Amino acid sequence: MQDLSLVRRTSLTVRRRATTLHRAVGESYRAGGLPAALGQTVRLLGELIARPVHRWQEQQLDRRMNLDTRADNGTARPAAATYDDAVAYSPIPMHHFRELLRALPIEHPREFTLIDLGCGKGRTLVLAAEHGFGAVIGVELDDRLSHIARANTAGLPAATVLTTDAVDYAFPADPSVVFLFNPFGAATLASVVANLEASLKATPRRLIVAYFNPVHRSVLDDSPAFRPSASARHWVIYESGRQAAR
Ligand SMILES: C[S@@+](CC[C@H](N)C(=O)[O-])C[C@H]1O[C@@H](n2cnc3c(N)ncnc32)[C@H](O)[C@@H]1O
Repeated sequence: MQDLSLVRRTSLTVRRRATTLHRAVGESYRAGGLPAALGQTVRLLGELIARPVHRWQEQQLDRRMNLDTRADNGTARPAAATYDDAVAYSPIPMHHFRELLRALPIEHPREFTLIDLGCGKGRTLVLAAEHGFGAVIGVELDDRLSHIARANTAGLPAATVLTTDAVDYAFPADPSVVFLFNPFGAATLASVVANLEASLKATPRRLIVAYFNPVHRSVLDDSPAFRPSASARHWVIYESGRQAAR
């Protein structure tokens, strides 16, 4: 019975991936002809092959540090936020987060606090502490997830996890990196960005926003307090004020 459902799930996944590949290659062909389609095929096949390796590396991290940061099957999105636009938990792929950490325009992470708004089980907090941030703070709406994040970071003196709506979070007056992995919709993000603007006005300092899967990036693009300073396929980095002009 279980074998049959595994076969069914595997064949569904293969079919879904084949459809995605077919569609993406078709779009590239229409946009840039054969060279673009070939480039896209190589890139997507490379990603497909790398995926199990990345998953294995994430399992190794959990095993090595006795963590639970894996995705839950069918996690419901948390309700009762100020705005009903929460996105359900899904951990950032470790290699993407490490790439983003390397891309940050900071020389000495120890002088910065990293704040993950919507930290889920806290994978980013563990990796950011390992990267050398002076302090790492997780803000999570769902108390089941924040409880797990607290257990995952229990051995890290630099880490704090708060259970609260990001809208109600008061930012510390330190130079900070605010990390977002598409945690919520435009309404919550607009309110968070307004808080960041007020915090910057009260205490001018370096504030960097690293937005992964930036679905609602227009909210930050429209903010007079931030400018994009770097971007890649999956993320955008914003810097506050004049320091953004690099
Ligand atoms: C896509 S997951 C990202 C998890 C984590 N940042 C990571 O990269 O591994 C989004 C998280 O945001 C949380 N979230 C959604 N709305 C929130 C809000 N208004 N305040 C705080 N957390 C929120 C969800 O519960 C979920 O854990």
